[in-house]
Amino acid sequence: MAEQETQDAIQLLTEDHRKVEQLFEQFEKADGSSQKEEIARRICTELKVHAMLEEEIFYPALRGKISEDDLDEAYVEHDGAKLLINDIEAGGADEEFYDAKVKVLQEQIEHHVKEEEKEQDNIFSQARKADVDLEALGEQMAARKAELMERAQSGGLPPAETSTMETI
Ligand SMILES: [Fe+2]
Ligand SMILES: [Fe+2]
Repeated sequence: MAEQETQDAIQLLTEDHRKVEQLFEQFEKADGSSQKEEIARRICTELKVHAMLEEEIFYPALRGKISEDDLDEAYVEHDGAKLLINDIEAGGADEEFYDAKVKVLQEQIEHHVKEEEKEQDNIFSQARKADVDLEALGEQMAARKAELMERAQSGGLPPAETSTMETI
């Protein structure tokens, strides 16, 4: 039997980024409220799970090993996105500003993904150079992801919780 392919932490997270980018593209082309809502909900679920994986497992493993400022900024960017995510999930596509909120979320995520994996000296490249077991983290994250996705499918995940700021 072929060995099951495992992804290291960065491969897993990068794949998530591509998936969400595709969903945002689908949203742009979507027609009608129900289609838009369905795609937006998928985007929100993907992002909530992704943020949890990074905040519970990936970022803590990098603390003290990569730029402190970059990590702090990443947490705050997550929290900024969560405000929109929770708002979008609570609303409907017929509401005023719905499309604008999804668009601004997309822009925020694009910016954040750049800092994680695209710009010079990004977080992922720093992590690759650091003394971190990316394979072990990948395994841990894949297991947590499966658990969270299952929870999302059976009843849904609670609203995203911020970790760096109070919300009203
Ligand atoms: Fe990410
Ligand atoms: Fe992130």
